[in-house]
Amino acid sequence: MKPIVLQFDDILMTADAQEQLHSAALVQFASVDEILASPDPLLDVQGLLLNLAHPVTATLLDKLPNVKVIANYGVGVDHIPLPLATERGIWVTNTPGMLDKAVADLTMGLIIAASRRMVESHQVMAANAFTGWTPMYQLGVEVSGKTLGIIGLGEIGKQVARRAAGFDMPVLYCNRKPLSPEEELRLGVSYRNFEQLLAESDIVSIHTPLTPETRGLFNAVTIARMKRGAILINTSRGALIQEAALADALKRGHLYAAGLDVFEQEPKVHPDLVGLPNVVMAAHIGSATNETRRAMGDCTVHNLLCGLKGEKPPAALNVPVMLSVKPL
Ligand code: GLV
Repeated sequence: MKPIVLQFDDILMTADAQEQLHSAALVQFASVDEILASPDPLLDVQGLLLNLAHPVTATLLDKLPNVKVIANYGVGVDHIPLPLATERGIWVTNTPGMLDKAVADLTMGLIIAASRRMVESHQVMAANAFTGWTPMYQLGVEVSGKTLGIIGLGEIGKQVARRAAGFDMPVLYCNRKPLSPEEELRLGVSYRNFEQLLAESDIVSIHTPLTPETRGLFNAVTIARMKRGAILINTSRGALIQEAALADALKRGHLYAAGLDVFEQEPKVHPDLVGLPNVVMAAHIGSATNETRRAMGDCTVHNLLCGLKGEKPPAALNVPVMLSVKPL
């Protein structure tokens, strides 16, 4: 009998991946609520194909005692308790390398939109309220040549650095571990600690995962350490920023603008940010291109199928314990 895989949303994938998935598994659509409402454990379920909108909890896993693999459609896995999955013998996988360029593209878009007041300008035009070119109208700040500070120079951060080079931007970064001098040279980036980066950057862009250590990394204290007139961009996870503190800094003019694709209480946005002229917001669309989402689909399915077969998935984020006592 084919193993059952629970899928939580429709996703794009190539016809090949679709065929491989359906020949190896019986795919059923499910929701967290349905699983939790089931009076009995779902013993035949061996795989989950889910994403950041469906948080995995211990209670959910209690209902799914034979799951071998949780294949996450996306890179961030802050919605999956990794140590618990590891302890229960479950592979957790993500989609590294699939969405770096799409997210970096959107990051540059937010940098430009926030610096050049593109949303305000669009709103004037959309209301047919433009009264004509004047020398002082809707002045923004120049992007070219500004110092960009990247928080977390992983694969997405590196793609942002490459794009920033095209805008003649000096790039600073902070990471848990600095890169080798050769790689710094190749990417044209310079290491700073967090405090130094905040003090020197005109634009700060966040590309670090959400963990207990990074939650609320940008708060009243750290935002106050940013340059007056700086711009804050976030395409990583919303809870890295305390939105009330950000809104306050934007209102007081300490920060010039912000560009946000992710939100602290997603899908809600803090009421103090709504309507501010100097915040540009997108609806968590960093990876939302047809090309990227399809590549993510194939990658997720490949990981899932490896996990179901008892093989190490290429994008495994953990090494589950007690794998040997689970039936393959
Ligand atoms: C999207 O936010 C992801 O983590 O892939």
